[in-house]
Amino acid sequence: MEIRKLDKMESPPNELLLLADPSIEMIEDYLNRGETYICEEGGERIAVCVMLATRPGTFEIVNIAVDECRQGMGIGKKLIEHSIQTARLQGFKTLEIGTGNSSIGQLALYQKCGFRITGVDRDYFVRHYKEDIFESGIQCKDMIRLSMDL
Ligand code: ACO
Ligand code: ACO
Repeated sequence: MEIRKLDKMESPPNELLLLADPSIEMIEDYLNRGETYICEEGGERIAVCVMLATRPGTFEIVNIAVDECRQGMGIGKKLIEHSIQTARLQGFKTLEIGTGNSSIGQLALYQKCGFRITGVDRDYFVRHYKEDIFESGIQCKDMIRLSMDL
């Protein structure tokens, strides 16, 4: 398994990106402004992570997704560890990530990787997404914000 930057001429792996974010408009916006990393195995793109500089000294993981057949095998954790190293090497002081209130497994993973909850952006998903989102039988309304000092 290899983690590399998305090539400038390469098409982005939309089918993976859409697993983490149902809005293609939002995805296209941050793909243009951020850095995209691909996890590849045997020539196949199996996971993706997009990072964006949001404020001075702050980097954010805005999209992370692993191919459905390969979830729960430690790949997401490896990509987050790679993101932490990338942010440190580029001199960022803080790494942020946000996820929905209904993303129980993601919240577990991010805290296991060292992120701590810093706040809640109430009704973020109601304001920014046209369709209602449901996960684990819970409506996704609020964005849980987490961060890590690097
Ligand atoms: N309770 C406790 N721990 C849990 C739970 C739970 N309910 N669910 C998952 N976990 C833990 C696992 O135990 C594991 O930790 P461990 O290594 O200590 O056992 C960890 O979370 C999962 O780790 P990985 O196997 O590395 O995760 P995976 O490779 O599946 O990647 C990801 C995680 C990216 C969330 C993947 O499942 C995915 O693509 N999901 C769909 C898209 C998505 O939701 N992306 C994130 C949206 S938010 C954003 O993009 C900023
Ligand atoms: N992901 C998604 N859903 C989950 C998860 C999870 N990881 N864990 C539990 N749930 C859901 C279940 O699916 C179920 O929902 P459903 O009815 O839609 O299927 C629900 O949570 C659990 O419901 P119950 O079976 O009614 O819960 P239980 O009778 O176990 O009571 C309680 C819950 C009080 C937390 C009990 O487990 C307990 O006593 N735990 C130990 C003490 C404790 O932690 N108390 C709370 C501390 S905070 C406080 O006291 C204010």
